[in-house]
Formats: sequence, C-alpha cells, structure tokens
Amino acid sequence: MKKHLLFSIVCLFAICSCCQETVVPASVPAKIVDGKIVLEAPAREPGQQSAIGLACDPIETVRVAFVGVGGRGTGAVYRWTKLEGVEIKAVCDLVQAKVDNVNKMLAEAGLPAADTYVGEEAYKELCAREDIDLVYIATDWLHHCPIALCAINNGHHAAVEVPGVMSIKDCWDIVNACEKNRRHCMLLENCCYDFFEMSTLNMAQQGLFGEVYHVEGAYIHYLAEDWGFSEPWRCDYNMDHRGDNYPSHGLGPICQVLDIHRGCKLDYLIAMDTPSYNGREAAKRYRNEDRCADGDHTISLIRTNEGKVIEVQHNVYAPRPYTRMHQLTGTRGFANKYPIEQISVKEMNGHDALSQEVMDSLLKEYRPDFVKEIEEKAKSVGGHGGMDFIMDYRLVYCLHNGLPLDQDIYDCAEWSAVQELSRISLENGSMPVEFPDFTRGDWNVIKGYSYAIKK
Ligand SMILES: NC(=O)c1ccc[n+]([C@@H]2O[C@H](COP(=O)([O-])OP(=O)(O)OC[C@H]3O[C@@H](n4cnc5c(N)ncnc54)[C@H](O)[C@@H]3O)[C@@H](O)[C@H]2O)c1
Repeated sequence: MKKHLLFSIVCLFAICSCCQETVVPASVPAKIVDGKIVLEAPAREPGQQSAIGLACDPIETVRVAFVGVGGRGTGAVYRWTKLEGVEIKAVCDLVQAKVDNVNKMLAEAGLPAADTYVGEEAYKELCAREDIDLVYIATDWLHHCPIALCAINNGHHAAVEVPGVMSIKDCWDIVNACEKNRRHCMLLENCCYDFFEMSTLNMAQQGLFGEVYHVEGAYIHYLAEDWGFSEPWRCDYNMDHRGDNYPSHGLGPICQVLDIHRGCKLDYLIAMDTPSYNGREAAKRYRNEDRCADGDHTISLIRTNEGKVIEVQHNVYAPRPYTRMHQLTGTRGFANKYPIEQISVKEMNGHDALSQEVMDSLLKEYRPDFVKEIEEKAKSVGGHGGMDFIMDYRLVYCLHNGLPLDQDIYDCAEWSAVQELSRISLENGSMPVEFPDFTRGDWNVIKGYSYAIKK
C-alpha cells in the first residue's frame, strides 16, 4: 500500500513537472506557471539601456530610403513628395518596374531621382549607406523584421508598416536593436491619426468619459475576395498562421487611450476563434490548397494590470461592412466610431448619444492643436482621408526636432505581439498568456500618453 502511494506521488510529480514544460511551440521558450503561459524574456545585454522616452539628435533634412514600393510603399513616396525638410535618397523593390515608377513620380514632382536597388537582398546594400537617416519599410510581412533590423543595426531609424514584426522573438530582437543602437523604430499605425480617434483620445485624457475601463478595436475588412490578385502573400501567411494576424489598426488607438506602458501595462491575453470557412475557400480558389490556419473570426481579450479590458477582433473573410470599432466605455461617457459615430457624456446628455451637431462640434473642439495646423493639407494630399499624411508629418516633425516619436519601439512590440500571443492562447485551448513586458519594468516611468511638441 505504502509502495503504491509512493508510486502515485512520483507519477503525479512527473505529470506536474511535465505540464510545467508542455506548451505549444512559441518563438521563444515558454512554460506554464499558475495556469498562465509565460514566455521567457531575454535579459538586457551589458551597456544596453531602456529606450523609454528616447530622443535622438535633431535631423535638419530627413534623408529617407523606401524599401517595398508596391501599392502601399508607392503611396508613401507620393506623400513624402509633399512633405518639407525631406530628401528621398533611395528606393528598393524586387521589381525593376516598381522602382522606375517611383522615379517617374519624383520627376513629375520636380524632384531628383532616387538611387535604385532591386532584388531580394538589395536592402542590405541600401542600409549600408551612410547618407540616409530613415528606412521606410512597406514590403510583405515576413520581410518587415529582417529589413528593420538591418536598418537599425546600420545606425538608421526605421519605420515599418503594419502589422509590424511577426513573432515574439522578432519583437525582442527589434527592441534590443533599438535599445543598443539608440535608434527609433516606428510602427506606421496610421489609424492612430484618424480624426475621430485623435479627438476621442483627447476627450478621454481630459476626463470627459470618466475612467475608461473597456475598449474595443478591430480589423474587419472583406479582403479575402481578391487575394489572388493583389496580395497573394497575405493569403499564404494566413493559410499558415492562426490568430489575429493584423491587430494594430484596432489596438493602437485604444492602447493610447489606456496609457499602455505610460503608467499602465498589458497583463495577459486570451483568444478564441471560429473555424475557417471563407478563408479556406479563398485558399482553395487562389492557392489550390484546402486549408487555412486562420479562423474566419478571431477575438482576443487583454486584461491590463489595472483590471481594464481590451477587446480586439480580426476578420478579413466576411462579406460585411468595414469596421475598426474603436469603442471606449467609461464611468461618465462613451464613444463609438463604427458602424455609426456616437458619443455620450453623462453631464451633457445622460446616457443618450449626443446630437450630430453637438458631437461634431465636440470632435472639432478636441482635435489636437497640431492637427488643426495641417488638417487642410492632409486632406488634400490624402491617404485614407488624410490620416496617412498626418502620420508621416508627425514622424518627420519629431525627427526634425529631436523629439520622442508618437509611437515608440515598445508600442511596435506590444501591438505586433498580439499575433503570436493570440495563436499561443488558441492552440492551448484559449489559455491565458502573460503579455511580455517589453519595457522590462519601465512601463510606469512616463505618466500618460502625449504627442511631443517642440517647446
Ligand atoms: N497602414 C495601412 O493602412 C496599410 C494599407 C495597405 C497595406 N499596408 C501594409 O503595407 C505593406 C505592403 O502592402 P502592399 O499592399 O503595398 O503590398 P504589395 O504586395 O503591393 O507590396 C509589397 C512590395 O514589397 C516588395 N518586396 C517584397 N520583398 C522585398 C524585399 N526583400 N526587398 C524589397 N522589396 C520587397 C514587393 O516586390 C512589393 O512590391 C504590408 O505590410 C501591408 O500590411 C498597410
């Protein structure tokens, strides 16, 4: 009997210690601790310092190089032809015709031709140049991280298109590179610069909504229908990767409202998804493959250290209207962007939505001052109604003036991380996954989100 008991204890111990180790593969070592999946965080190397509030020397003329000039990159070059204090030095793509097209555009704008680089690894030669300040990356997703790392390790700032970098390992690599080289890497999250988002951020900061405790964001956009033609790499990626593969459009603006790593921190995430229906159909139609790892609809819930809740959704497969949700719920008010714009403020209208007229005037009143200065130009240059231009303008403004960027390397890591964290949670039966603290303890150094403005 005694022997039997001893055997059972040994077995139980073996099972428990086995559970401690058994987690689906992640890009960094992971284990289960107290019912949560915890990912290993690398230590800072000697001499490496935090990049919280990082400000670099002012740059009088921002010399930029573009890598990836498909649809999005070409649009970015166009916007940069409308910015002051910049020089477009170089352009790189896999396709000669695309870089030639950029030079045609520069000629039409009366600007000098950019040096051209063509080929899978041509960005390495481009990054080795000393006469550039910023590498602006708009390639397919899997190239974002290697190109950004190459830029930063060559001493340049980097700007990288959404959804940023594609794994937790990539997140740490890019954080470490920025911290070591004292360089910026901005996630080009243009949705943070949309007018409704910026005004409601300001309203939340001024206390109009009281304590904001629940926020929702999403990327719901019926894209799968034409993947075969425009973005085959996106179809390929989603076929292989389960989870929210494009979180930052919804997540960026709501994290700013909650002051994430500026006094508050993301604590843990759980995710659920549906089976793949239309995703699988798209894979069959365009790739002749009967599989799609990405569920049609993915929902991630993130709890902050203060107990607030963030909800992010992803669906690029359903024939339904576009939405990024952008919903803020607070103790004294509420804002919602999609499907209809609504704001309520307890003191003004109880729990009813404000009239269109009152809401419009509030949105205008709470628009940040810097937006008022460039709004007209932004709308005329365009790019999703002007928000893309405001994003580029702010990036250049901060580099000109040696100011911290609006979106720092920790935003880039946090917003990118939801992709792999959601996959890990899904593949472990929706188990909570601890959110890595990419600031390594410095999330409370800065109090409150703000745009840096030259004094
Ligand atoms: N923020 C937004 O609103 C928004 C909108 C659309 C796309 N995007 C993002 O922009 C990026 C590009 O999207 P797109 O629609 O322009 O795709 P695209 O396929 O039209 O363009 C990608 C380009 O990158 C080039 N490329 C790939 N590998 C390269 C390499 N090693 N070196 C140089 N060039 C390389 C390709 O040849 C192609 O021209 C993606 O990350 C996408 O998610 C963002």
